[in-house]
Amino acid sequence: MKFKIVALSAVVAAALQLTFIQSSLGHGDVQPQAVDTTGLDELPEEFALENPYRLMGGEQYEKAIEIGSSGYSQNCARCHGLQAISGGVAPDLRMLEDGEFGDEWFIERVKKGYSQNGTYKMPPFEALLSQEAMWAIRSYTETRPKE
Ligand code: HEC
Repeated sequence: MKFKIVALSAVVAAALQLTFIQSSLGHGDVQPQAVDTTGLDELPEEFALENPYRLMGGEQYEKAIEIGSSGYSQNCARCHGLQAISGGVAPDLRMLEDGEFGDEWFIERVKKGYSQNGTYKMPPFEALLSQEAMWAIRSYTETRPKE
């Protein structure tokens, strides 16, 4: 019985979040925004295969995490959850694999988005976000505590 109630409230919560996503897409009150990456080293035109800011470490990585945090809030949180904690509608990005394999998967998804039956479940971001901004967001999500 207790389990049923818990399961039911999870379904209700997911449905509410979905409604929120649809209405925000419909009315555009949460507009995706380009991310100001001032302070981060510019990257070569060709996409890196592995998070370059993690590889640089130190202040660049710190800065990337900070910029990624606001970039994430502006562009990803409405589906993937505040502070990268998923409410169940879209995958929890803290759970992506660490390192190069996870990096590749991340960048590919962010560039191309995800569509099913001709509608976008996740919009492509390649026209909106710079490579610097994408890696900054990856820096943020990969350093969020997993619990
Ligand atoms: C409109 C809602 C929406 C927005 C906004 C959105 N996503 Fe997604 N995202 C999804 C959904 C839904 C999926 C799951 C697609 C699938 O089933 O593979 C997904 C999948 C992903 C995946 C693959 C996750 C995995 O476990 O395979 C990554 C990485 C990702 N999103 C990153 C981002 C980032 C970074 C942003 C912000 C720049 C973002 N998304 C914005 C809805 C969204």
